Amino acid sequence: MVRSYLPEGAITIWPSEMLNSRRLPHEDFQKTPEAMKLEDETHWVPQILGNEEEAIRKSILKLKSHGASAIDINMGCPVKKALRHNYGVALMGDSKYAAQVVRMAKGASELPVSVKLRVGPQKNLDELLDFLWNLESAGADWLTFHPRTTEQKRRGNADWGQIEKVGANLKIPLIGNGDIQTVEDVFALLEQTKVSMAMIGRAATARPWIFWQVGERLGFPPPSGRTGKAPSTAIEEGEEYGRFLESCFKIMLERFNENYAIRKFHFLVRTGAPWLSFGQDLFSKVTQAKTPEDILKNLQTFFSVPQPMLRKTELRQ
Ligand SMILES: Cc1cc2nc3c(=O)[nH]c(=O)nc-3n(C[C@H](O)[C@H](O)[C@H](O)COP(=O)(O)O)c2cc1C
Repeated sequence: MVRSYLPEGAITIWPSEMLNSRRLPHEDFQKTPEAMKLEDETHWVPQILGNEEEAIRKSILKLKSHGASAIDINMGCPVKKALRHNYGVALMGDSKYAAQVVRMAKGASELPVSVKLRVGPQKNLDELLDFLWNLESAGADWLTFHPRTTEQKRRGNADWGQIEKVGANLKIPLIGNGDIQTVEDVFALLEQTKVSMAMIGRAATARPWIFWQVGERLGFPPPSGRTGKAPSTAIEEGEEYGRFLESCFKIMLERFNENYAIRKFHFLVRTGAPWLSFGQDLFSKVTQAKTPEDILKNLQTFFSVPQPMLRKTELRQ
């Protein structure tokens, strides 16, 4: 769905959800929703979680044959399970080993390797830079940086000042991430931090046409199959959100088993609904419905009256 809002001729990097390198080698990709990919999907950069050479190597070779253009390593995940296994943000606690993981990934194939990370245990900028230079020396081709601390998880403000400082001290490209909610935020981040690329997180689940809005400002034509201007007023965005949710749920029902589709749809609505004035009401209506038919009916009732979309919301989950 997000891809359907990408302007014709525009290119971006498409990450996957994180994929566990211990499980990947044994998984059937046709049945792993997180690794599903359409034939014509390009610039796919799956993200792996891991710290063991053999598992990483096998995972990367499998992802490569599945069409990966590059491999991203997760060093930002703060969930307990990742910490227990010493991957995700735990890798930021061991600079040498983190660099070793990059070398393992580089050694597995000729695919470029990037790292996604957040503010780790490093106490100051110099320590953080030391950590990042180690990744750079190990061969990382670019980094994506989310300047929130592990304790912050995904709440509160991302400190874009740190993106600027890090970006100015690296030779490889840096992608800035965190708190981008509107098209204005995309350009504000690029201008304030002077990095050349931005990653949109939660806002992509609420206003995926943000890619169309960005493209419009850069002079790109509309996405293939769409005409006119990208939705921009509160009412236009609310209407598009209703259409987006309905199409998304139908696609989920086509591809996944019903229980999984419903669970994932609840999650999608929970992440995006805070951008609607009456998002809580939408979430209740979707979660109270017992069957896919009822979910679709409740969606249609909810969006049968104008539902204004907010420019900004407080990011919590
Ligand atoms: C529900 C959810 C799942 C996420 N899963 C991943 C993930 O698998 N890998 C990853 O690198 N980041 C993940 N993130 C973090 C985002 O990539 C991003 O760094 C974070 O949400 C900050 O950007 P934002 O403020 O624009 O949302 C996730 C975030 C959310 C809200």
